[in-house]
Amino acid sequence: MTDTKKSVHGAWSSRFAFILAATGSAVGLGNIWKFPYITGENGGGAFVIVYLVCVLLIGIPIMIAETMLGRRSQRNPVETMALLTDEAGADKNWHYLGWMGVIAGMFILSYYSVIAGWASAYIVKAFAGSFFDADGTAIKGIFDDFVASPVQLIFWHSLFMLATMLIVVRGVHNGLEKAVQFLMPSLFVLMILLVGYAMTTGSYNQGLHFLFMPDFSKLTSDSVLTAMGHAFFTLSLGMGAIMVYGSYLPKGISIAKTAFLIAGADTAVALLAGIAIFPIVFANNLHPASGPGLIFQTLPIAFGAMAGGWLMGILFFVMLVIAALTSSISLIEPVVAWLVESKDLSREKACIWSGLVTWLLGLGTVFSFNVWSNVKFFDRNIFQLLDYLTANLMLPIGGFCIAVFAGWIMKRQHSEQELDMPNAASYQVWKILISYVAPLAVFFVFLHVIGVL
Ligand code: PHE
Repeated sequence: MTDTKKSVHGAWSSRFAFILAATGSAVGLGNIWKFPYITGENGGGAFVIVYLVCVLLIGIPIMIAETMLGRRSQRNPVETMALLTDEAGADKNWHYLGWMGVIAGMFILSYYSVIAGWASAYIVKAFAGSFFDADGTAIKGIFDDFVASPVQLIFWHSLFMLATMLIVVRGVHNGLEKAVQFLMPSLFVLMILLVGYAMTTGSYNQGLHFLFMPDFSKLTSDSVLTAMGHAFFTLSLGMGAIMVYGSYLPKGISIAKTAFLIAGADTAVALLAGIAIFPIVFANNLHPASGPGLIFQTLPIAFGAMAGGWLMGILFFVMLVIAALTSSISLIEPVVAWLVESKDLSREKACIWSGLVTWLLGLGTVFSFNVWSNVKFFDRNIFQLLDYLTANLMLPIGGFCIAVFAGWIMKRQHSEQELDMPNAASYQVWKILISYVAPLAVFFVFLHVIGVL
């Protein structure tokens, strides 16, 4: 594609750098914090199966499509949609797709940062030895006291937002590559050690049973929507994060293979987290449906009881925070890239403005856990509302539109050329998934939720 304007756009140094960054974006709180608690709230096995099917049939094809759109235009999501719409001679309304992504990213980051703040605070608690020999009740007490304090939550939320913006201001390529390279293998090792502890709790089989034995009578239409929404959330799809990372991807690199690698690593981390957490839940008579506090009320019990738990606790929360950081920068990068490339703002100014707005929005989530816990809209507090709006609605709608755009609007020769698959059959499989399977699946889930089906 010809450049009409001098690009201020950077580029990854290699395919590996892209894989690391995109995996960094995908693996985060979604895998270790959110997946276990929503699995707990939605009855376990059947929910997990729906989620896995969604990753395979909807997530991976859309990840390929989203990366492809970004790489083709080499621009931020707002301009990508504008450029590719013109290239295809399509309706101007497609431009709004880029916009919705930018807004969804800021909404998500606003609560993501608050939870990442919890994880940061837990580094200090682990270091101070607060979990030592504590039982389930004591650990729950620590958590309840902590989230009851708006001052503490605001402090840690502010710190995390600041850290995110300090990385983003330097540009996502610098430094990020190295951080992820070291982080991913260490996170993996720690998760496996935690699974090792889970095996000693006496409730290992019960945990596995909960996680993998489907009982479809427990599935409501809302849990199907949540499972599908989570497939988008955990793979960072539907809002332009992967699009903006794809735009930094040099031409001539196979997009499809990288998508499989990223989705595989992401799913493995989530399942390991589930396998580590549920045995601890059952062994300590906790409730799987404890909500967003689940990992903060379970894992510290393990750290307090196991040999070497002090160090492991510190390392675990440090890594959780780094994993959250490599995701948070991808949540804000679309809006920053847009402000810099299209609005001629300096990177510093773009970061300050977008960071401030997101930080302010985050206060809504902070107060959801204490002073405003009774403030409800549609039966949900602000945090639950933002989560539902983004993960269950905006990301699937964004993903649906990306699928329709890549499958129906973009010219076949363009997607064929951009994906450059090794054989015609694999292209054809992707084309069917992206044109029919993914959009129809999203559509039917929505119909089901609003009660039409
Ligand atoms: N995938 C990230 C996680 O699982 C969250 C995220 C969603 C990041 C959307 C970017 C875009 O933690």
